[in-house]
Amino acid sequence: MVYVNGRFVPPESALIPVTDRAFLFGDGVYEVIFGRAGRFAFWDLHMSRLARSSAEVEIPILQDSATWLSVARQLWNDAACTTGSLYLEVSRGVAPREHHFPEVVQPSTVAFVKPAAEPEPRIAQGVRAILLADQRWLRCDIKSVNLLPNVLAREQARRQGAREAILVRDDMLTEGAATNLFVVRRGELWTHPANHLVLPGITRHVVLEEARRLGLAIRLEPYARADLSQADEIFVTGTTSHLLPIAEIQGEWQAPGPGVVTSRLHDAYMTRLARELDVAPSVASSAG
Ligand SMILES: Cc1ncc(COP(=O)(O)O)c(C=O)c1O
Repeated sequence: MVYVNGRFVPPESALIPVTDRAFLFGDGVYEVIFGRAGRFAFWDLHMSRLARSSAEVEIPILQDSATWLSVARQLWNDAACTTGSLYLEVSRGVAPREHHFPEVVQPSTVAFVKPAAEPEPRIAQGVRAILLADQRWLRCDIKSVNLLPNVLAREQARRQGAREAILVRDDMLTEGAATNLFVVRRGELWTHPANHLVLPGITRHVVLEEARRLGLAIRLEPYARADLSQADEIFVTGTTSHLLPIAEIQGEWQAPGPGVVTSRLHDAYMTRLARELDVAPSVASSAG
């Protein structure tokens, strides 16, 4: 089932008018939340980010967290999967095509569950990545459905046999096309500051909390592309990829295997995720 504007319908009947502004302009915001057995990880952090994204683009969100949870509960029960992700999208709504905001418009709301593999408890072997110019706008902090540069970057990566494209702006590494980027150099953990040039990833946030707890030295600074060869470990983070080591970047940088810091953070993150999924708002416990 798919949730569309207050109704649960089969996917083939889940229709949005062509004049929906998300279809015409990419005028909408979204979230992806990891779930297991009807419990959703870092729910409140995702809800806060959705509220922030929508406020930044002035799309009113009519549902509160409890309403989203009851939508999630119904979708989850219907999907009957153990592990998956919940997708939520709110667009500005349906209106005659004019760029400026319509006078009167009701936001459109869509949600669905997509099954996903159970995360591996052990750290995965690293994946390949490529470097690409960051062609996105200057409000990458907003989780907008306008993802064309990200789509083009991921397609380039796929065509070159890589899992992720690492984006480069003004000779600095910003983030992946759909992940945040971390670099370890001489024991210090670097990641781009959470400003307008990157998405404030929920996984990034939790990994940084774990890094602080482990007493790692953290540098919230952009890492220079010119210093790539000096990186000891590189990994990316995201809601569905969790913490993924990078093994090789375009033949310019390679790692013999997942590094020590990456492995520690992976284990810490997985423990945190498991704990989170034990106590998170639950389908079962919130029924009624
Ligand atoms: C551009 C970008 N950066 C980072 C992330 C990771 O964010 P999160 O950890 O909240 O999934 C995503 C997730 O989709 C993304 O699209």
